[in-house]
Amino acid sequence: MQTIFSGIQPSGTLTIGNYLGAIQHFIELQEESDCYFCIVDEHAITVPQDRLELRKNIRSLASLYLASGIDPEKSTLFIQSEVPAHTQLGWMLQSISYIGELERMTQFKDKSAGKEAVSSALLTYPPLMASDILLYKTDVVPVGEDQKQHLELTRNLAERFNNKFNDIFTVPEISIPKVGARIMSLQDPTKKMSKSDENEKAFISMLDEPKKIEKKIKSAVSDSEGIVKYDQENKPGISNLLTIYASCSGESVENLEAKFEGKGYGEFKQAVANTVIDVLKPIQDRYYELINSKSLDDILDTGADKAAFEANKMIRKAKKAMGLGRVKKKR
Ligand code: TYM
Repeated sequence: MQTIFSGIQPSGTLTIGNYLGAIQHFIELQEESDCYFCIVDEHAITVPQDRLELRKNIRSLASLYLASGIDPEKSTLFIQSEVPAHTQLGWMLQSISYIGELERMTQFKDKSAGKEAVSSALLTYPPLMASDILLYKTDVVPVGEDQKQHLELTRNLAERFNNKFNDIFTVPEISIPKVGARIMSLQDPTKKMSKSDENEKAFISMLDEPKKIEKKIKSAVSDSEGIVKYDQENKPGISNLLTIYASCSGESVENLEAKFEGKGYGEFKQAVANTVIDVLKPIQDRYYELINSKSLDDILDTGADKAAFEANKMIRKAKKAMGLGRVKKKR
């Protein structure tokens, strides 16, 4: 059985981009794979966080995973900081990462641009992400398009470690969805939709009420042509809405183009809003049932124990391969 690992940062309420680019695919994968899904809180502190807000976001993300359909009987759901092996292997992998390759990461460049106080953890974030993945002998990592570069680095670090020390890590494959891998901002469709966007109208949060979703989609940037057609370069706004519609409904973009031939943007946008609401409303209902339940804590406790058991086996191998600590003599 193949092993799957993926993580999401608890740095604000998830957007429809996180859902369509990542979570939606996790649900399908858990049927036939051994899955680990992580709330990567140690990644979130690479930029300043309010401690109470962070704690709230961790719980909220755990509930959203479950409300979206992650089944704790099938998948291991856990919080990164509750499994210390992640930072331990992260440190070891930093020792074989080069500053130059870390400085080339687009996400580092974007997040540090124009800032005076940039944490060193923002630079060394990718070896921690590699550690998350490599601890579990992961075969496949399902992510959105923006994580591709980090995944390539993970593969390089795994190969570098295996060649230098001992062949202990599985080199993971990356899985990016064909449609929905890069949902764009509703206000500037040349930019990725992001949960940290200052303009609230630019993203749909997974917890936005139906009325708000409708309003945001209706005010999404389009063009003056009035034709519902996929053309990423010349019609980025309408193309983005078509992608959202297709990923939410499972219909192909071609089918949708045919369905809305001769119809205006008003009717199209209303249909997009209805489809998004149909997907999010049941998730929201389950979310509010789960958020304060004791079962959430039980699930996270069990997940952390199971993840730590597997991760510690790999840590022992990695320490041995690098010559760390002592070789314990059998008594
Ligand atoms: P994060 O928290 O930014 O995003 C979580 C997942 O959502 C995807 N995503 C999107 N997909 C489509 N359109 C968008 N606009 C969009 N925005 C985000 C991301 O690609 C991601 O799959 N570094 C990671 C978290 C991480 C991780 C890992 C992932 C830490 N360790 C190990 C996989 C494996 C991140 O910041 O994702």
